[in-house]
Amino acid sequence: MTAGSSETPPPISELIERRFNRRSLLRGALSAGVLATTGCYAAPASGPVAAAAGPVAKPAAGKPAPVPNPAAPISGFQELPHTRTDGSGADPATHHLPYGFRTQVVMQWGDRLFPKAPAFDAAAQTPASQLQQFGYNNDFVAFLPLPRGSQNSDHGLLVVNHEYTNVELMFPGLGEDRTAMTPEQIDTEMAAHGMSVVEIRRVEKQGDYQWETVLDSKYNRRLSALETNFAIAGPVAGSERLKTTASPGREIVGTVNNCSGGVTPWGTVLSGEENIQEYFGGGPTEPDAAHREADNFGRLGIDNHPRYLWYKTKPLFNLTEEPHAPNCFGWVVEMDPFTPDSQPIKRTALGRMRHEGAATIVCPDGRLVVYLGDDEANQHLYKFVSRDACTPDDPAKNADLLNHGVLYTATLTGDGVVEWKPLVFGQGPLTAENGFTSQADVLIETRRAAQLLGATPMDRPEDVEVEPSTGEVFVLLTNNRNREETNEANPRPHNSHGHILEMNVPEVAGGFDHAALKYTWTVLLCGGAPSDKVKAPGDEVDGDYPGWYQGAEPAGWLSCPDNCTFDHNGRIWIATDGADKAAGFADGLYACDTHGPHKGQPRLFFTAPIGSEVCGPCFTPDGSTLFLAVQHPGEGSVFDNPTTHWPAGLPGGDVKPGPPKPAVIAIMVDQRDTPA
Ligand code: FEO
Ligand code: CA
Ligand code: CA
Ligand code: CA
Repeated sequence: MTAGSSETPPPISELIERRFNRRSLLRGALSAGVLATTGCYAAPASGPVAAAAGPVAKPAAGKPAPVPNPAAPISGFQELPHTRTDGSGADPATHHLPYGFRTQVVMQWGDRLFPKAPAFDAAAQTPASQLQQFGYNNDFVAFLPLPRGSQNSDHGLLVVNHEYTNVELMFPGLGEDRTAMTPEQIDTEMAAHGMSVVEIRRVEKQGDYQWETVLDSKYNRRLSALETNFAIAGPVAGSERLKTTASPGREIVGTVNNCSGGVTPWGTVLSGEENIQEYFGGGPTEPDAAHREADNFGRLGIDNHPRYLWYKTKPLFNLTEEPHAPNCFGWVVEMDPFTPDSQPIKRTALGRMRHEGAATIVCPDGRLVVYLGDDEANQHLYKFVSRDACTPDDPAKNADLLNHGVLYTATLTGDGVVEWKPLVFGQGPLTAENGFTSQADVLIETRRAAQLLGATPMDRPEDVEVEPSTGEVFVLLTNNRNREETNEANPRPHNSHGHILEMNVPEVAGGFDHAALKYTWTVLLCGGAPSDKVKAPGDEVDGDYPGWYQGAEPAGWLSCPDNCTFDHNGRIWIATDGADKAAGFADGLYACDTHGPHKGQPRLFFTAPIGSEVCGPCFTPDGSTLFLAVQHPGEGSVFDNPTTHWPAGLPGGDVKPGPPKPAVIAIMVDQRDTPA
């Protein structure tokens, strides 16, 4: 059903409450197969570009123009059906949203960040142009209100991670063959990695609101793998094991695979370096057993078989020329977007792993806790607890805060207990007997230290995020297809769909003690269809695991949870990555209650265009805009024959169809088509 039909849903503000009372009714409608024709979402017009453009109906004659309300809440909606990526359902080449919402492209790959930046030209990309343009494969998104420390929802800085590159979709004629890349193309892809900072402002135009970039902002900035110089700080700084030709382990050029992240209470952004193993090659043997770091590198997957061929032209990524360089990556980066000339810093006290996010929360005593996930099958959960109290309203006082503190890893046992164990040199097994000579050794080899401490091997920890009002910590475990040996917190063998754990933190005077050494845990939800009792061949266990929600609606389930955020009502918004492979439908964004009778029942709000995953969900403080990163649209196809042109045709996107472009979009209530 298209916008403007007589069968419009009730006002948005009522929808969410009514929905809960109508669940059984909806279930009946779904089983009768009438969802697609009864207006549960605005089915787009035909064709990927036209569909994406999805013209919004004008108010009917005689109907007064709607009064713009920039603070309209975004939480009420009717859930979408899963979009089959084989084209048997809704058009998979574009995204889909519930009725009453609209999207705008805020930033897409190649958009200019500076007044003198060249306009994007696919045929004339250079490292210099890419360094002045929005990078590739946006992942984490933060919105930091301006002025600093305010709660403004119409003006701020967007800080975005650019995790990796799909060169087959970036360069015309290249195809899948990285060995055919020119040195200039390699430099361009290095320039497309990193982070962007861009000032944005919400303006009213023709009775509606739009986000605009402020091109001449003093804040706009690119950090890249190509030329940004990072300081290395904390216990590992200056270690022999980080020494390169250019620096005695105190600086390094480049950041790679910046995945998820977090924002500190003083307004800096944390960014996790994730799949660093993809970047290093050229080692003397495969693997070089004689190399002192061979075991350490191998533990992170650095095996001399990189996806990227930078090592051929860049000594820093060549294991023969710079054998310590991999120890300069795999950290959490802190950058201050409000101080454009500030040097970003790799914070070694937070450990070295395949970092996903870095969610912060302040304890009642002022100490900062940072929750961290190490995103690989059977790796572990971590938290960092600062030694000192932080000072949110005086950023300069926190310059050293993330250099001093204790990193802990988690053991989750069957009685629902989480125990946090410190990674401190000299304590427990972290001694010379096990090859550690300093805290630097412990942090460089975080994974080995955690394993020695008996940390629980998890099903790929992605985001670990805190719902601040309840202190509950949610752990998104995306999947672990190869798991043979289960444990209580990871109960499914061959876990294709992932699950989400909830950790409950002890309440103390003034709040929640995130520095505590014992929590409790339960399962919030398990991915996969509620009816799916299918087990892998040979498995003894059926599909009925703790926390499995049996009453979900046919569409109300998800697969492969990855990133999340929370709305004003404490609802968790879950972005998925990998549903296509695991479940045969598009990735998306789901809202899910964390309390009450519908706890753990996800509802689909956004489906991503073909080939893409959804990342970095982020609300403005008033909850009226939801920023969302759509990463790698069209993945699996090539520039010259893409499966989608998304987001061309959308407001803010290119007018003409071109290569698919990763983009950060804003989702808002559709002011122009609010039901009367
Ligand atoms: Fe970059 Fe763990 O996702
Ligand atoms: Ca990703
Ligand atoms: Ca992720
Ligand atoms: Ca992922």
